[in-house]
Amino acid sequence: MYVKSLLITGANRGIGLEFVKQFLKLPQSPQWVFAACRNPEKATDLKTLGETYPNLRIKQLEVTDRESIKDLVTSVTSDLGEEGLTLLINNAGCLKRLQLNDVTQEEMLESFQINSVAPLCISQAFVPVLKKSSLQSPGDGGYGYRAAIVNISTLTASITDNVTGGNYDSRTSKAALNMISKSLSVDLKPGRILVSILDPGWVKTELGGAGAKMEVSDSVARMIKVIQGLTMDKTGTFLNYDGKTLPW
Ligand SMILES: NC(=O)c1ccc[n+]([C@@H]2O[C@H](COP(=O)([O-])OP(=O)(O)OC[C@H]3O[C@@H](n4cnc5c(N)ncnc54)[C@H](OP(=O)(O)O)[C@@H]3O)[C@@H](O)[C@H]2O)c1
Repeated sequence: MYVKSLLITGANRGIGLEFVKQFLKLPQSPQWVFAACRNPEKATDLKTLGETYPNLRIKQLEVTDRESIKDLVTSVTSDLGEEGLTLLINNAGCLKRLQLNDVTQEEMLESFQINSVAPLCISQAFVPVLKKSSLQSPGDGGYGYRAAIVNISTLTASITDNVTGGNYDSRTSKAALNMISKSLSVDLKPGRILVSILDPGWVKTELGGAGAKMEVSDSVARMIKVIQGLTMDKTGTFLNYDGKTLPW
């Protein structure tokens, strides 16, 4: 699918920043890349990219703040004018690696706020803008949809795959994200908006750590390939960076 406009959260570093870089460098790059981050003033990598790519717009977003989400919708809609949004990637996330002895109510709730509730509320807020895109475009190129939401999850959210236990924060909040994504996929199917759940693999970022298996450039290149090849029959599925279906 040609991504005419893209909004990505957590875009100032790690996987989010790499998505921005690679989408901007595509031969058919999006007309608009909206890179949302908590602190645009300090987003030096994004600002440097903005000097080369006029289609990059840096936006403020604290994903847990209702007003911040509302302001983002207003700002993105104003830039898009009559156009809709083609792709929303809910990428911002946290990992606290809470083991049984570390769990606190506050940290668990914060993880759910960031990893599950925020992507749901951001998706909800952008549905009208995505719908505009799904209604506008002349054809769907055989993909069966014209707008999409991609939620970045993790293999460790798979209940089937969990044989080592622990990591209560991430496993549970991302499993909730998977269920939210599945519901979104059912609710948004009539409007021809695809919803996909992607596991980036174990990636060398601040979150993944230096011992991770994959370079961020490799993970993101593979995920972009998966995104570009998604068809409506894949909506609501849990896929890895190579497009392989993962068990719930
Ligand atoms: N790296 C891996 O191995 C791995 C594996 C599986 C899944 N994932 C998932 O991939 C996604 C990206 O991870 P990453 O490895 O790139 O992590 P990262 O380098 O730690 O980056 C996390 C991003 O999320 C943003 N963020 C966190 N809380 C936020 C909030 N409340 N409001 C706005 N932005 C917020 C951070 O912004 P600040 O800079 O402002 O903190 C940062 O941009 C996450 O959803 C993660 O769960 C990663």
